[in-house]
Order: sequence, then structure tokens, then C-alpha cells
Amino acid sequence: MTDHQLRLGVNIDHVATVRNARGGAYPDPVRAAKLAEEAGADGITAHLREDRRHITDTDIDALMEALTVPLNFEMAATDEMQKIALRHKPHAVCIVPEKREERTTEGGLEVAREENRLAHFIAPLRDAGCRVSIFIAADRKQIDAAHRIGAEVIELHTGAYCDYHAEGRFGDRDRELEALRDMSAYAHSLGLEVHAGHGLTYDCVQPVAAFPEVRELNIGHFLIGEAIFRGLTPAVQEMRRLMDAAREQG
Ligand code: PXP
Repeated sequence: MTDHQLRLGVNIDHVATVRNARGGAYPDPVRAAKLAEEAGADGITAHLREDRRHITDTDIDALMEALTVPLNFEMAATDEMQKIALRHKPHAVCIVPEKREERTTEGGLEVAREENRLAHFIAPLRDAGCRVSIFIAADRKQIDAAHRIGAEVIELHTGAYCDYHAEGRFGDRDRELEALRDMSAYAHSLGLEVHAGHGLTYDCVQPVAAFPEVRELNIGHFLIGEAIFRGLTPAVQEMRRLMDAAREQG
């Protein structure tokens, strides 16, 4: 992969959401992950939440066993999750905020407020060889804090940008996009690898994919939704095509 290329991480959490609606084994998120891999995903992302509302511990065991592309293990900064991550040593760990009552990860992590604790929290993960990423808002204070605690990667939260786009609030959308662009460049200038994700769809992925500093996008809910209509393989292939086209055009 050359430097200008952009990796696609496919988040398969919501295959597990559908499975858990009936409490059985179907549809299997590992099968979806293998299909996404074949369709051009460079990695698979799965979020093991404290309440296990979608991905379960058994899914993580099975993904570690079955995947040939890297697993990006999303987790809250809790002792329980740290133990699980250290047992599996996935390629990447992404630290996200987590609230029981939220429907999805609502905001970025408040790194600046918990700098000391998070520095100690991620150190053993880094020592175990996991690439540690911190999911944050496009905010200089959070980026500086992520840099100081020794994270190698930040993932910028694109949720507000995508929501504004979907609601037709284009002025707000453009302001968010500008913040994402500026903060991608700023984080890159500090030596951090920059990822982005949350809420991305075919309609709004390209402006973010065009940022030269962004190396990876993590996309889940839209792709699993789109798989209902066109199948997972074409859904992933189309996202890949749009990302590559945006990159080519710069
Ligand atoms: N990146 C992170 C850190 C996330 O928490 C999520 C949602 O689990 C995503 C990306 C993917 O967001 P979406 O499912 O909206 O594409």
C-alpha cells in the first residue's frame, strides 16, 4: 500500500445487533467480516461494549481466529476491557467513550480531563504491541492530550459532520468539515497517524477521504444497512471505489 492510499476498516457490530435480536447464531458477524475482507476491507473493527449489546466475547475469540486482515478492537478504558485486549493482543485497539444509555458512541473521549489515568491505561497495551488509537473530537486540546499520553493514532469523530449533511444544514456541515481538515493536518504535524469515522455514508465520505493526512476510515452502520439492499460485497466495494476516487482527485 502506497502512502496516499486510504485503508477501509469495516465495522461489523450491527451484524451482531441483528443476530442478537433473535438470540441465536444467525447472522454470524465473522462470516460478514470474511466477506468484507474479500470485498476489499483492509481491516475489521468490532466494539465489545460493557453491556455486550452487539459483539460478544465469543465473537472476539472467533474474529481473532478467523481474520487474515487486522482486527481493530474498540473498547472503553476499563480494567475489564484492558484484560481482554491484553489476552488477545489485537493489531489495533481504539479507546472510545462509552455510556450505557447511549445508542451509539456519541462524542469523542475527554482525553485532556483524564490524561494521567489514560497514559497509564494505554502503556501496557502499547507494550503488548497493539497500535493504540484514541477516538476524539476535532479539537486541538484533545489532540495535544492524545499526543502527550503516547497514543500513536487518533481517530476523529465525523458524526456531527455526517448528521449536518443528512439534515441539510450545510453551513454547519462545512464548518465541521473545516475543523476535521485542520485538525487532521495538525495531528499529522505532531507525528500522529490520523483516522476518521462515525456516520459515514456514500453521500458524505468523499470530502473526508480526500484529506491527505487521513490513513484509515472506519465505517459500520451504513454499510451493514446498505448490505440489506445490495448485499455486503457490493456495498463494501462501492465504498472502496468512492474512497479511492476521492483520494485520486485529492
Ligand atoms: N469509529 C468509532 C471509534 C466508532 O465507535 C464507530 C461506531 O462504533 C465507528 C467508527 C463506525 O461508525 P458507524 O457505525 O456510524 O459507521
